[in-house]
Amino acid sequence: ALCDIGFVGLGVMGKSLTLNLADNGYQVAAFDLDQGKVEGVLAQDRLENKTDATRVQGCESFVDLLAKVKAPRTIVLSVPAGAPVDSVCRKLIEAGIGPDDTVVDTGNSLWSDTVRREKMYDGLFMFFSTAVSGGEQGARFGPSLMPSGDRRAWERIKPMWQAIAAKVDPKTGKPIERAEPGNPVTEGEPCAEYIGPNGAGHYVKMVHNGIEYADMQLICEAYHVMRDALQMSPKEIAAVFREWNQGVLDSYLIEISAEVLEEMDSATDAPLVDVILDRAGQKGTGMWTAMSSLELASPAPTITAAVYARAMSALKSERVHAACILLGPQGEKPSEAEKAATIAQLHDALYCSKICAYAQGFQLMASAARANGWTLDFAAIAKIWRAGCIIRAVFLQKITDAYVRNEDLANLLLDPFFVDEIATHQMNWRKAIANATVLGIPCGAFSSALAYYDSYRLETLPANLLQGQRDYFGAHTFERTDAPAGEMYHVEWGTAERAMHKMG
Ligand code: 6PG
Repeated sequence: ALCDIGFVGLGVMGKSLTLNLADNGYQVAAFDLDQGKVEGVLAQDRLENKTDATRVQGCESFVDLLAKVKAPRTIVLSVPAGAPVDSVCRKLIEAGIGPDDTVVDTGNSLWSDTVRREKMYDGLFMFFSTAVSGGEQGARFGPSLMPSGDRRAWERIKPMWQAIAAKVDPKTGKPIERAEPGNPVTEGEPCAEYIGPNGAGHYVKMVHNGIEYADMQLICEAYHVMRDALQMSPKEIAAVFREWNQGVLDSYLIEISAEVLEEMDSATDAPLVDVILDRAGQKGTGMWTAMSSLELASPAPTITAAVYARAMSALKSERVHAACILLGPQGEKPSEAEKAATIAQLHDALYCSKICAYAQGFQLMASAARANGWTLDFAAIAKIWRAGCIIRAVFLQKITDAYVRNEDLANLLLDPFFVDEIATHQMNWRKAIANATVLGIPCGAFSSALAYYDSYRLETLPANLLQGQRDYFGAHTFERTDAPAGEMYHVEWGTAERAMHKMG
């Protein structure tokens, strides 16, 4: 029989998605330029099913792949973002893919490439995209999927995507976790919903990753203070994270942070985290988010601070040198008695900063939607992030609720629930930053979040002086508080009269 769907690229993600589809009863045709990878998927399928009858059909070429999938064909690409996507598309055209067939890009592609590709391949096939979050485990047992493109393609793919996606228990808003081959989760709300026209899904995934960077950096800053100011061991810090994971901070990233901190290094018998070099890598999605926020003038300082923190960490050898030259403060380390209070402050700093990072991410998506003519459903986006993805957290239910209450919410900070949460926890947030600053422990993500909050809540910022400066040296003009918006004035600075002119 012909297959329901075809896969190109059987690396970690492609292989896991293939087996997930097979678990859900779909016949998959699988191809990779490396035939060893094709064999690998078939072997794993046989092993998991304990039978020789494999649910996956291996393919030898692009032509073979197209021949094995029923029309109209759905061909999924799981290849590295960038040039490989276009190279595979060209191969599919040569192999005879048709205008009614769909190609689905599941990589971490730059959203504007996706927009370009939809136009470029128009008439040759439908270029659809589905950004995937959740890493290998997610792809295998339930990822969060952010599909976008032509709605006709979505209607075809929807049953498959909703079958393989992570599921949320509608009563609790929590993920239904089950990681068993051959026994997929079939109940609950699927984390796969149509996002919008092409490019929108990859944009939303990009912002997901920007938030992921912020979330990770915020956790690292809390760890930094506990490690250096409170001199706590990795085990002790893990215990704090485990406790935090019982409350409002309950999330996948807190959970895995505790696990990382508990791991011992077999070679040295030291905590593994103490052996891991403090030089962070990055593949670029966080930077894309920061760049987009600058382009759209949509403030996302916590996401940007997280990208800079990785960049600063990467200057390892310079920092080793600077550490011998530059002096820090002589702050008083908190006493044993102050330890519990400091930990409580860090908890609240993490919570409030996290709210701000999400507020920035959602505001950025709203700005991008306006700029690109997309209609994004923010409640639906928060919903599909509740399970399967890297930023999954109990907290996402609160964001869903906020956008269900008001779909036109200008900023998450203005939702009544979050207004109260920050009002209640802000003093601890402020103290955590103040104490870390006095001790010379950098907390760029915590403090940029607080500056975001304080700037957003102030009716008057010092930009009046800034406008005066601009007008002084460049005649850039300014508006007056007592004149209609858009009416521009200029002063002849430096002249005796200092005459003011209403411009144009
Ligand atoms: C996910 C992840 C995934 C990947 C990113 C981050 O949602 O499953 O975001 O896409 O881990 O590429 O990678 P870097 O930290 O290397 O930028």
